[in-house]
Amino acid sequence: MNARTSLTALAAAAALLASASAMAQGAKLKVGLMLPYTGTYAALGVAIENGFRLYLAEQGGKIGGREVEFSKVDDESDPAKATENVNKLIKRDGVDVLIGTVHSGVAMAMAKAAKDNNVLLIVPNAGADAVTGPMCGNNIYRSSFSNWQPGYATGEVMAKKGIKKAVTITWKYAAGDESVKGFKEAFEKGGGSVVKELTLPFPNVEFQALLTEIAAIKPDAVYTFFAGGGAVKFVKDYDAAGLKKSIPLYGSGFLTDGTLEAQGASADGLFTALHYGDSLDNAKDKSFRLAYAKTYKLQPDVYAVQGYDAAQILGIGLNAVKGDVSKKAEFAAAVEKAKIDSPRGAFTLSKAHNPVQDMYLRQVVGKENKVVGIASKSLADPARGCKS
Ligand code: PHB
Repeated sequence: MNARTSLTALAAAAALLASASAMAQGAKLKVGLMLPYTGTYAALGVAIENGFRLYLAEQGGKIGGREVEFSKVDDESDPAKATENVNKLIKRDGVDVLIGTVHSGVAMAMAKAAKDNNVLLIVPNAGADAVTGPMCGNNIYRSSFSNWQPGYATGEVMAKKGIKKAVTITWKYAAGDESVKGFKEAFEKGGGSVVKELTLPFPNVEFQALLTEIAAIKPDAVYTFFAGGGAVKFVKDYDAAGLKKSIPLYGSGFLTDGTLEAQGASADGLFTALHYGDSLDNAKDKSFRLAYAKTYKLQPDVYAVQGYDAAQILGIGLNAVKGDVSKKAEFAAAVEKAKIDSPRGAFTLSKAHNPVQDMYLRQVVGKENKVVGIASKSLADPARGCKS
């Protein structure tokens, strides 16, 4: 053994001892929540935290046998601040696990930091395809979806309806780009064609000029990815511009999830595809919705479900390693063979740790995203060069 390898071995032994002694002393599990609490995605961050805390409360406040201590950072959905923000949790607070985030660009920086520092990361929303592709690893998990998944499912639905000519409109960043890419793949496979791809920078909401362009093109339908506050404004503006009657609007289900109170009648009748809906007929969803409404005096949405399931994934992994986060391979083995009892319906994780799940076709009826069918059964994200 040369000096370098013996030093590395010493450091590894010291880290092991530190984690063993922290656990022997019953140290709390440090959970770093990095979520948007301001900006267009603020409500999404809150719903994710609510869902996470609900599962924790159901477990008597412990995960993997350890009590939990939270550190929180508002990431503002700003990729430019993401590395600094995630390092506050990793380096300053020394968290055992990172939970975050909503925005794909911010999540990419989190995945890189998690990789560089070998910290556990569970992504409770952001769909950046690469997180469960080239960035995959036995410390990286996602409880939500890949951007490709709802886009692809909506493309299948629109093609099956016989729509031939579509325009797409979204924010110009990874989530919008990848969502449109998934949509296009299925829509073109089903015989449709995309005649124009419109974008505006995230998180801008000046839609008027683009709506005028859609009116001039007169496609058979429009496909869109918007979410949060931006989705509220887009659906209202689309209706106010008089387009809703003449050019049917479709989207990945984020367009109408957690937004219906604010969208009012403008959202009525819209079709979307997503891995959750408001009228699922399963026991887990019924008890989840009851408990969520009782605790928060609010109806849950897809983001609350994803937060709840992020906590479930953490629980499954940590129970298998008796709370020892350093045992990444054993943690991964347990999660990879688990069937996760989600309010969306049970799902498994792919080898790259992305959910393999049903995509529902939903239609807005009053204040609900009513499930009216299955858009895609057990839809798995395509393999994207995950080597682990
Ligand atoms: C994302 O940036 O990946 C994203 C954000 C909000 C959503 C879905 C995806 O609702």
